[in-house]
Amino acid sequence: MDYVIRYVKKSDIDQIQKIEEESFPHPFSINQFLQLYVNYNEIFFVAEKNKEILGYIVGIMGFRKITVASIAVKEEWRRKGVATKLIRYFTKKMKTIVKTLELQVRISNKPAIFFYEGIGFTCKSILRGYYPDKEDAILYCKALC
Ligand SMILES: CC(C)(COP(=O)(O)OP(=O)(O)OC[C@H]1O[C@@H](n2cnc3c(N)ncnc32)[C@H](O)[C@@H]1OP(=O)(O)O)[C@@H](O)C(=O)NCCC(=O)NCCS
Repeated sequence: MDYVIRYVKKSDIDQIQKIEEESFPHPFSINQFLQLYVNYNEIFFVAEKNKEILGYIVGIMGFRKITVASIAVKEEWRRKGVATKLIRYFTKKMKTIVKTLELQVRISNKPAIFFYEGIGFTCKSILRGYYPDKEDAILYCKALC
């Protein structure tokens, strides 16, 4: 599959936000993505094929850890290994900066839970009522070594 993983560009944001919108009940807005782009463009990557954005991953830098703020793949491109490729690339880059990756997942998001557990994330705790609609989150983490 001839797509590439590369750093995000500002001109990708519209396509990214559309994928976000089809993927999440409370999606980030264009402005929120622009803020992520300004603050965290060194930890923001896309999968691209012929100018089409297939998926993306963006992190937020914390103290000794990076939190995955969002990862999503275009619906018609799912189950083709795109997210696996994105997170492997992300992890390889982040290894030089921090020791731990963290992220939160809705407890009902089975595809994401299968995905994260399959690539070695482990449950650290349950965050009760974490989301605006009060759904619980699973806090996952992965040591980068
Ligand atoms: C979760 C998500 C990013 C996975 O992306 P993807 O590109 O389809 O994932 P991959 O093709 O790399 O899948 C790798 C493995 O994860 C697991 N997996 C992924 N989607 C799955 C699903 N719907 N059901 C069961 N397992 C699944 C499988 O083990 C899969 O391997 P396999 O296809 O060989 O069985 C994608 O479903 C998505 O964009 N969901 C909406 C956004 C979202 O929920 N993001 C995570 C929020 S924390």
